[in-house]
Amino acid sequence: MTGSSTDYLAVNRANWDDRAGVHASSRGYDLQRYRDDPTAISHVVAFDRPLLGDVAGLETVHLQCHIGTDTLSLARLGARVTGLDLSPASLAVARGLASETGTDIAYVESDVYSAVDTLGGGRFDLVYTGVGAICWLPSIRRWAETVAGLLRPGGRLFIRDMHPALGAVGDDNPERLQLDHPYFEVPEPMVWDDDVTYVDADRPLTATRSVEWNHGIGEIVTALLANGMELTGLVEHRTVPWLALPELMEPDEVDGEFRLREKPERLPLTFTIQAVKRG
Ligand SMILES: C[S@@+](CC[C@H](N)C(=O)[O-])C[C@H]1O[C@@H](n2cnc3c(N)ncnc32)[C@H](O)[C@@H]1O
Repeated sequence: MTGSSTDYLAVNRANWDDRAGVHASSRGYDLQRYRDDPTAISHVVAFDRPLLGDVAGLETVHLQCHIGTDTLSLARLGARVTGLDLSPASLAVARGLASETGTDIAYVESDVYSAVDTLGGGRFDLVYTGVGAICWLPSIRRWAETVAGLLRPGGRLFIRDMHPALGAVGDDNPERLQLDHPYFEVPEPMVWDDDVTYVDADRPLTATRSVEWNHGIGEIVTALLANGMELTGLVEHRTVPWLALPELMEPDEVDGEFRLREKPERLPLTFTIQAVKRG
């Protein structure tokens, strides 16, 4: 399977459709919290808020919105949000949650790379992307082109995602930090076959295959600069929202995420990049 093939879209769509149902009933995503408390926002968006700033009134697109917990959170902070995702089952959960909570969110089914055709170009004040997104895309250059295409001049990108250094760590020897996978983007994807997901699940996955690529920090920044974006922030974090390396991580009491138990200064686990589209 290669990045130029569209097979990866079908494989990943099936995997995320399967995960959507499992995630919707998981304690990890805890959808009931959003139904019970009209002010609840996701831990991911809560983490982002100090860097994200005020989003009230911003015409926002949330790329790869999954089951919509972060999308709903942005809407609760006053953004006018459109959520976009490849997986119809994820979008069905997201639409249900928006309707149950009386929140006005437009959800559209699309591959990220078709987002400008699907939504129209140059119309958003903010492109937001949450953790666990760009690893599903083969080309960071095409992603940056899409982000720039969606934004109006002066509009901004906010992305927090898994750090590619963490993406390069393998689990062949789970008690050691070992670099087994590419740090840089390469054409050949990493193909996984796994019946578990990253939150508690009431059943194993049946669509077990998934296809990923890593993208180096320099490659992400270079792709944005090449597409008329001006870098306004780059922060590397020592925490990640899911238990990425179970043998090596422990909960971080401060922000409810996970960090390396020993010498957390060894490895960045997530990053935030912000950039503005030049006028
Ligand atoms: C880890 S989830 C999104 C993370 C989000 N922070 C969350 O936890 O709710 C990844 C999402 O990316 C979507 N996705 C994967 N490949 C995509 C593509 N090519 N275009 C659009 N969405 C895609 C999947 O369907 C899935 O919903």
